[in-house]
Amino acid sequence: MRSSAIFVAIAATAVSAQTVPTYKSSLNMTIDPNSVPQQQRAVWCQGQTNTCQVLCDNNTDLNDCNQAQLTFDCTCAANNSAPGLQYYTQTLPTFICQQLFSNCIQANAGNADGQDQCKSNIQKLCATHNPPTIAEISSLADASTAATTAATTSAASHAATTSADKTASSSAQSTTSKALAAATMGPVGAGAFAMAAAGLAAYAL
Ligand SMILES: *[C@@H]1O[C@H](CO)[C@@H](O)[C@H](O)[C@H]1NC(C)=O
Ligand SMILES: *[C@@H]1O[C@H](CO)[C@@H](O)[C@H](O)[C@H]1NC(C)=O
Ligand SMILES: *[C@@H]1O[C@H](CO)[C@@H](O)[C@H](O)[C@H]1NC(C)=O
Repeated sequence: MRSSAIFVAIAATAVSAQTVPTYKSSLNMTIDPNSVPQQQRAVWCQGQTNTCQVLCDNNTDLNDCNQAQLTFDCTCAANNSAPGLQYYTQTLPTFICQQLFSNCIQANAGNADGQDQCKSNIQKLCATHNPPTIAEISSLADASTAATTAATTSAASHAATTSADKTASSSAQSTTSKALAAATMGPVGAGAFAMAAAGLAAYAL
């Protein structure tokens, strides 16, 4: 009876002593690769290289992912810079973030304060927006071509209008890449993408 009470007290101390590290962004998160099954690492790297390709408008300077180390390189040819990988799912930083969060929740089982820290220090930094897909890129290209063809001065979504106006005299290809760049820039990428697509659709009407 007495010894079990002591055991509970020690266990509780051990759990509450567990502190959750803080991070600047998911780009700063690392995980021991050996704690992740090889098959899982392969899936993560596949997602990472696909998403890098898409976020770089299908034109990368560096795009590789090391399954053994869980490290990657991703820079876009357009500007020699990394795209905002931390803002999208299907990237290595986001996969690592989600895994660290899951590990943190497990490590803090039965400790509500600890789990709150898992949420505020880790989960908050895990992206929730899906990157645009190849299908979305082609449908945006189609909508964009239609919009450019029908382009006049009608008022559509501001972003779409600006983008269409700027590129009205250039080719449909450059309209596509500008619209895509605008759509994939910020942390609200998926929303902006949807808005731009909606704007372009309205424009085409
Ligand atoms: C976080 O990661 C970024 C990008 O990799 C790096 O520039 C920065 O120095 C890192 N910050 C910390 C505190 O590790
Ligand atoms: C570099 O270009 C890519 C693709 O156009 C874009 O997504 C990214 O935001 C750009 N990065 C910077 C730092 O401008
Ligand atoms: C990406 O580029 C490759 C060759 O560089 C091309 O074959 C492919 O069609 C492109 N994909 C898209 C969606 O533009």
